[in-house]
Amino acid sequence: MIAQAIFVQILTPRNLGNYIVNSIDKRAGVKYSPNLGRERRPSVRVLVGCERSGVVREAFRKRGHDAWSCDLVPADDGSPYHYQRDLRDLLAQAKQGYWQLGIFHPECRFLCNSGVLRLYLGGKKANGPDEARWAAMREAAAFFKLCLDADIPKVCVENPVMHGHAKALIGGVEPSQSIQPYEFGEDASKRTCLWLKGLPLLVPTNVLRKERYANQTPSGQNKLGPSPERSALRAKTYQGPADAMAVQWGVLGQSADTSTPAALTPYHGGECG
Ligand SMILES: C[S@@+](CC[C@H](N)C(=O)[O-])C[C@H]1O[C@@H](n2cnc3c(N)ncnc32)[C@H](O)[C@@H]1O
Repeated sequence: MIAQAIFVQILTPRNLGNYIVNSIDKRAGVKYSPNLGRERRPSVRVLVGCERSGVVREAFRKRGHDAWSCDLVPADDGSPYHYQRDLRDLLAQAKQGYWQLGIFHPECRFLCNSGVLRLYLGGKKANGPDEARWAAMREAAAFFKLCLDADIPKVCVENPVMHGHAKALIGGVEPSQSIQPYEFGEDASKRTCLWLKGLPLLVPTNVLRKERYANQTPSGQNKLGPSPERSALRAKTYQGPADAMAVQWGVLGQSADTSTPAALTPYHGGECG
């Protein structure tokens, strides 16, 4: 009876099919993300550059993907799936085709529109350029461009809206879209631009409309007061968009649709960050 049950189980066409696919995949080194029911999807090897929080890394890992973060500083969560090193070295050393998806959060303070006046001494154009600041801005723009041009088939680079000098340095490339955490179920407002390559636009999952969000003061400014952790806390990726990235972009192996969903239009200007 038991032997018969085992025999029937083994000979089920689906099991037999899975057995054959598994053997082939094992030899080819293909991994699958678990817990996806009947729909088997290859797991994606994801590099999350300039991430210390691990929010995006863990959103992918929880869904069975082989995701790694990289930052100059250690991972906030002490994860073993973190490279503490310069992203530029990691990208230069990666074998072609190793990373399948790259999501990058480069420093924005020298590139963002809100900081443009700091390019001038005392924050005033009339005082002339702050040469050190311009040099830092050129370096930050080169870093951004390196992320955008990474030799990875699917790339997302995240940043606030850029000022014109930085935009010119990255070749005038416009962001593909801008998103808000409140479009992904978060009680927070923080417009963020995404530059996408080989990826479809991120589709909002749960839009919360409020007059004022939990992270805002009555005048709409960010609530976080001065502290040593302020910049890391402000820069931390929100969970909602991270989950959406993992769900919507963790589909390598199926041909990801990179066309613009009908209900969405690409970003063509306005405030980010
Ligand atoms: C704007 S923050 C992004 C934080 C991210 N959203 C998170 O949730 O952790 C930029 C990060 O880039 C890191 N960084 C700056 N230069 C880097 C480099 N050359 N290689 C790797 N990481 C770098 C910084 O340490 C910082 O944590």
